[in-house]
Amino acid sequence: SSRRRKIVAGNWKMNKTVPEALALVRELRGAVTSVGDVVEVVVAPTYLALQAVHVALEGAPLQLAAQNCHWESSGAFTGEVSAPMLAELGCAYVIVGHSERRQLFGETDETVNKKAKAVLAAKMTPILCVGETLAEREANRTLEVVERQVRGGLEGFEAKDVASFVLAYEPVWAIGTGRNATSAQAQEVHAAIRALVGRLYGEETAAQVRIQYGGSVKPDNAAELLGQPDVDGALVGGASLKVGDFAAIIQAAR
Ligand code: G3P
Repeated sequence: SSRRRKIVAGNWKMNKTVPEALALVRELRGAVTSVGDVVEVVVAPTYLALQAVHVALEGAPLQLAAQNCHWESSGAFTGEVSAPMLAELGCAYVIVGHSERRQLFGETDETVNKKAKAVLAAKMTPILCVGETLAEREANRTLEVVERQVRGGLEGFEAKDVASFVLAYEPVWAIGTGRNATSAQAQEVHAAIRALVGRLYGEETAAQVRIQYGGSVKPDNAAELLGQPDVDGALVGGASLKVGDFAAIIQAAR
């Protein structure tokens, strides 16, 4: 795991107005100066705040991500935003397949795959999210579900592309609930995902792909989760909205 640079990303979801986003990121700049080269730090504001946050991040060791995109590059898709538009705004990453989008906005493995392809075509990196529901975990279907999502999301990519991707394991029951996966639960699924990537794309790709854990990551559980051999970072929701908490999680990734 030492070969892989840890990546901690804050998914702000539908939070922060533009002025609030600017205030948060200005504070964050001060908090990440010492860890920037050890840990990669990413923030994912709403579409509306991307431009302003990009300007505010200038020169800081912080990367910008969008939370979603459409798979077409332009056209009659009212209300949508394309990957090339996000690249042009300075996004390095785009989150695709977040469970909220799968559950509330009808995303499927197929649309997630199309979005990941659009993100790559626009020279950005997808953060591809997977994860089981509580019912699926209780039915012992966790690995089956996660493997289907990983296979579906990665279909048609080449090994060299997959090696650069970020995957995010986010068990749905752990998101926003305060009930994080234990480090053992996370490690088990992360190892299974890496093994699957190895079967599909080869060992070298599996050794390079980064796999974040997401779901109630907080300052008090981050070090334990991030200390697992196959946990290469965190995708943080609620705790990324508070600079102190997010900075503590970044420190835990060192
Ligand atoms: O994408 C991050 C997320 O779904 C986790 O949210 O609030 O449980 O950290 P939270």
